[in-house]
Amino acid sequence: MLTVTLIPGDGIGPEVVEAAVRVVEATGVPVQWERFEAGTEVMNKYGTPLPDEVFNSVLRNRVALKGPITTPIGTGYSSPNVMLRKRLNLFANVRPAKNLPGVRTRYEDVDLVVIRENSEDLYSGLEHIVVPGVVESLKVITERASLRIARFAFDYAVKHGRKKVTAVHKANIMKLSDGLFLECCRRVARDYPQIEYEELIVDNTCMQLVTRPERFDVMVMENLYGDIISDLCAGLVGGLGLTPSANVGEDGIVVYEAVHGSAPDIAGRNLANPIALIFCAAMMLEDQGEQEAADRVRRGVYRVLSEGKVLTRDLGGTATTTEITDAIIAAMAQESASPA
Ligand code: NAI
Repeated sequence: MLTVTLIPGDGIGPEVVEAAVRVVEATGVPVQWERFEAGTEVMNKYGTPLPDEVFNSVLRNRVALKGPITTPIGTGYSSPNVMLRKRLNLFANVRPAKNLPGVRTRYEDVDLVVIRENSEDLYSGLEHIVVPGVVESLKVITERASLRIARFAFDYAVKHGRKKVTAVHKANIMKLSDGLFLECCRRVARDYPQIEYEELIVDNTCMQLVTRPERFDVMVMENLYGDIISDLCAGLVGGLGLTPSANVGEDGIVVYEAVHGSAPDIAGRNLANPIALIFCAAMMLEDQGEQEAADRVRRGVYRVLSEGKVLTRDLGGTATTTEITDAIIAAMAQESASPA
């Protein structure tokens, strides 16, 4: 029996996590969920948005499915999401973006994966007031973390039959920090002659992503660029309701979460699209060796999207979170177990 730490989070988190749990249950794969609250209410009760017992559970189970958690803007406590990644050493964030059947977008043939460095850069949280009116935020780039993420990206490319890795940077301006990142990517690229390697400045990358997204395959980048570019990539394939991600640690711990946040504008109204979280669950099942179940989940989703009858608002429909989840579960029952 697989035991999974379940963190519903806040905002739309509990709604989309519940949908993903129902879908996993419908596959028949036995999973025991260890459920933990996290977020603002927990902060008010316990003085921390992520109590130690959550970390201990993930360390024990090595796999977690997580909903988004709200981070106060400008003031308040540090991001629980960043906290989780740091404390569990989840250094790599894998964010695939692929066109889906039935989802009409401006682009075709998008099939790329953003590999985002998760542990440093401007997310080091090192900020201070130099004198009133002047603030410094430290961007920290290390050789160790850059080599580690570059190797992860190339290994990912090999493992998934990908052809090219693009290192995204701004080393023309940040010559030392992004220069070091780039130098590390170059060093690692030499060990993978079978994978094409290219470098692209981040602003040019954005322009090319919205003109020729099909030219991209695996992309590796620092934390901030990865955060921004992966939302852009979600937009290319139909929006934040559709894109999953996996936070991967050196010691094999994986926390699966959607790219999207807690969407306070639609929270608690049964309106959220649960597909991103359902795809997270499919990634989790696949990584746990449950390929057939993962395929069935994906094929169920593809069928519902292709039919276009039961769609949430972000996809142009009127269905609720519950209704699209019901439709996906019904579609899974109709699907054969051939590969997705
Ligand atoms: P957001 O991703 O929550 O929402 C952006 C827009 O996309 C909103 O209009 C929202 O309604 C829509 N949207 C997002 N997910 C959707 C879904 N599943 N179905 C339908 N529509 C969806 O980004 P925002 O508003 O910038 O952030 C809100 C909060 O979430 C902030 O506190 C932020 O810090 C937090 N956040 C948490 C993340 C995490 O837990 N990993 C990741 C990103 C943001």
